[in-house]
Amino acid sequence: MLQRVPKRYHGTPHRGGTRGEGDYLIRPCRREDLKVVSDLVAGVELCSDGIEDQFGEAYVLAEASGKVIACAGIETHGSHGLLRSVAVVPEKRGLKIGKTLVVNRLEWAKSRGIGAVYLLTVTAADYFEALGFERTGRSDTPPEIQKTHEFSEACPETADVMVFRFGGRGNSREVHAMDIKKEVRDKYADAARKISKQTGGPAGEKKKASCCGSERSAGAQEAITSGLYDPSELKNVPADAALASLGCGNPTALAELKPGESVLDLGSGGGIDVLLSAKRVGPTGMAYGVDMTDEMLEVARENQRKAGVENVEFLKGEIEKIPLPDGAVDVVISNCVINLSPDKRRVLREAFRVLKPGGRLAVSDIVARGQIPDAIRRDMELWTGCIAGALEENEYRSILEEAGFQGIELQPTRLFRVEKGCCGDAQIEVSPGAAGDEIDVTFMSAFIRASKPTQS
Ligand SMILES: C[S@@+](CC[C@H](N)C(=O)[O-])C[C@H]1O[C@@H](n2cnc3c(N)ncnc32)[C@H](O)[C@@H]1O
Repeated sequence: MLQRVPKRYHGTPHRGGTRGEGDYLIRPCRREDLKVVSDLVAGVELCSDGIEDQFGEAYVLAEASGKVIACAGIETHGSHGLLRSVAVVPEKRGLKIGKTLVVNRLEWAKSRGIGAVYLLTVTAADYFEALGFERTGRSDTPPEIQKTHEFSEACPETADVMVFRFGGRGNSREVHAMDIKKEVRDKYADAARKISKQTGGPAGEKKKASCCGSERSAGAQEAITSGLYDPSELKNVPADAALASLGCGNPTALAELKPGESVLDLGSGGGIDVLLSAKRVGPTGMAYGVDMTDEMLEVARENQRKAGVENVEFLKGEIEKIPLPDGAVDVVISNCVINLSPDKRRVLREAFRVLKPGGRLAVSDIVARGQIPDAIRRDMELWTGCIAGALEENEYRSILEEAGFQGIELQPTRLFRVEKGCCGDAQIEVSPGAAGDEIDVTFMSAFIRASKPTQS
């Protein structure tokens, strides 16, 4: 059966209504839902043959005002799953409901010990790839799946066969990870639009952007991003670059940059640290910024234009796959970005790769002291707000070591805490010191320093 999916999607299983997607409820299907679900599937031109065979708890639906608006199911065949019937009524497309249901089903399948989930699709391979499915060959699918009606009869030979493997690339943590990149990009695109509006406005109305930190905790934003730069430094960059700053430290000040060096800023945002680096390395040096968000790159390039500097280049790319060759730079800096990545190992391996032998890493980031509870880890707002994705300090060190770095130092610069009762209404407060009894976990802004050995 072919999968037809909405154009846009996101979220984890939840009652809707918090992010503008309208109020809807997700629940397992009951036998009496069979007709309405079959009609919905057929209505969006998907095959509904055989849907009754495993109809029931293998399927979920989303309901709004008593009307079924979306559904998805995973049939089980031995230890394998078959995702099918991912359908959303046309008027509710673009609200991320389809993806929510797919994630819900994958988590359900995982909880039942399913090893891998297969699907067939003619039009939506990219969509499913973004969710962690990989293309595979028909002949590589297990016989139990090949025997299903969908594989053997309903789908054309040209349909893509895809698989989601649990325990490998696609475990449930990574289902969540799939959301992260998109959510992070959306959040910072939105932040960039706000910044552009601000910086385009009259000077008297300009306020510093606030973004790192959760919107449920305005105090945290302020605590994390405010007062990071010395006013004397800020004289060296356009005021709008400072307004666009969303970091949690001042890595450039600590990186001991020298004239003539080349620097790369991972997740350069509005460009403040790239411009400050450019100033420090001077016209014989070079400062690169890499960022995945187009809107942020626009803000950064506009700030470069205002600064009138030429030894700067902003590159579009992901920090998990840095668009520079091996051994390209003397120093890698980053300011409150590595915590946002769902694959920090890869980021640090990439940082190592692009450094010259003897090169330095100088990063400001949020780091956790203690185990981050799952409730925080899974909170997307806290993740995009630079909290939930924080590495624990020993983990940071060991990932750096694994990547090949030496001389690792991690120095706290500010402390925060997430109070108990998190995360439905997480309160994030600046802690005056170490964690107290009532505190689940302590977070800190930290400066992390390491270097690449001169010889490998
Ligand atoms: C918290 S802001 C920090 C921006 C900047 N470093 C600063 O101090 O103002 C995070 C930035 O990192 C970018 N970013 C987050 N994850 C990224 C990734 N995986 N690859 C590339 N850029 C990323 C976002 O687009 C955003 O511009």
